[in-house]
Amino acid sequence: ADERVKRISEKIGTYPDFPKPGIVFRDIFSVLADPSVFQDLLAVLEEQIRAVCPDVEIIVGLESRGFLFGTPLALALGVPFVPVRKKGKLPGELKQVLYTLEYGTDVFEAQAKCIKLGQKVVIVDDLLATGGSMKAACDLVTSIGGTVSLCLVCIELEDLKGRETLDKPFKAIVKF
Ligand code: PRP
Ligand code: HPA
Repeated sequence: ADERVKRISEKIGTYPDFPKPGIVFRDIFSVLADPSVFQDLLAVLEEQIRAVCPDVEIIVGLESRGFLFGTPLALALGVPFVPVRKKGKLPGELKQVLYTLEYGTDVFEAQAKCIKLGQKVVIVDDLLATGGSMKAACDLVTSIGGTVSLCLVCIELEDLKGRETLDKPFKAIVKF
């Protein structure tokens, strides 16, 4: 196995009973606190994108932790970064999608003109839990006319089976 993935996995913080009893919280910020492991993580993410979608045209990052990985990856690949944000934060002409939270729903938005018809998009986030956020982002990108070539996360919580809610190619670097 890749030594870098082992180092990344060992750096991820684990907090039982946060934010509520029974939840085991995985914390990506402990990776960002170590620049050499953070660099390894970005390199492994970039390699996944180059392997699955070498002709990627847009990197989409999900607010907020998806921005941490989406922006350096877009720079490394030399393609635009496009944010997906929670409602009311982005100006201009927008597309919206409803998504499911543990209790109720929320709205994701993106600027409609940032993705052109048929452009190949890789969506990046820190973590896949239920998959609700990633599924909504896929629907949003598709409604704007983009083609979702890859959904990429640092961490997948496998027990929640979020991957099964996605109908696009999916990759995770570390699985718990
Ligand atoms: C977290 C995480 C993912 C999402 C995963 O973000 O960063 O975006 O939840 O959960 P899901 O697969 O069940 O949808 P959160 O909404 O807490 O926002 P944040 O990144 O701003 O903290
Ligand atoms: N860690 C970070 N974000 C999350 C988690 C987690 O374990 N579950 C849902 N969002």
